[in-house]
Amino acid sequence: MRQLISASILSADFANLGDQIRQAEDAGVDWIHVDVMDGRFVPNITMGPFIVETCRRITSLPLDVHLMILEPERYITDFSNAGANNLTVHIENNPNSHRTLQKIRALGVHPGIVLNPGTPAESVFQVLNLVDLVLVMSVNPGYSGQSFIPEMVQKVKELRQELDRIHPEAMVEIDGGITPDHLIAAAEAGAEAFVAATAIFKHMQGISAGVKSLRGAFPV
Ligand code: DX5
Ligand code: ZN
Repeated sequence: MRQLISASILSADFANLGDQIRQAEDAGVDWIHVDVMDGRFVPNITMGPFIVETCRRITSLPLDVHLMILEPERYITDFSNAGANNLTVHIENNPNSHRTLQKIRALGVHPGIVLNPGTPAESVFQVLNLVDLVLVMSVNPGYSGQSFIPEMVQKVKELRQELDRIHPEAMVEIDGGITPDHLIAAAEAGAEAFVAATAIFKHMQGISAGVKSLRGAFPV
């Protein structure tokens, strides 16, 4: 079983982005998570390919890029060129998710499908064979610092079971409100990658302590 921590820079101090990412890297995070929002699919506007390219120059860690935008297929080449290693797209806004996921793979990037809290697990079953990642949102996307929705643990379980049946190499990732306690519950349900912004970049004792407390929660 894999146990990966993906540090979401959404809660980082952007006046010191390079230093913040390096601190997360030194603390042992596995991926850097970049939350791309367009103010249309979600209420907030955040970053684009330019920030991904900036992160690429700061770190050699894999860049886990989460697209919360309308018409994601129009931008995947730009994000690939900017240095994304994983590109996750939502099922809710994508009538051609099959084609989009295949296009991501053809660019040499790991494709992932994302489900909002209100979207049932079955809605992605038809595309599970095309992905390396299934990202379960455990908050409604748009902002960091929200509370974990506990019902999403069951969704992780359902997706893990279906992946075990048809595509066991793919992993389940979970994103939103992750604390050490929620990480334990999600890991036991079969999640293998854990996105955290607040628990890392807003930890009272600093970034390294935040990563350590998440890492310490992994089941042995
Ligand atoms: C929410 C984003 C998350 C967010 C997580 O829309 O997709 O990646 O940054 O932030 P926390 O860990 O604070 O819930
Ligand atoms: Zn995210």
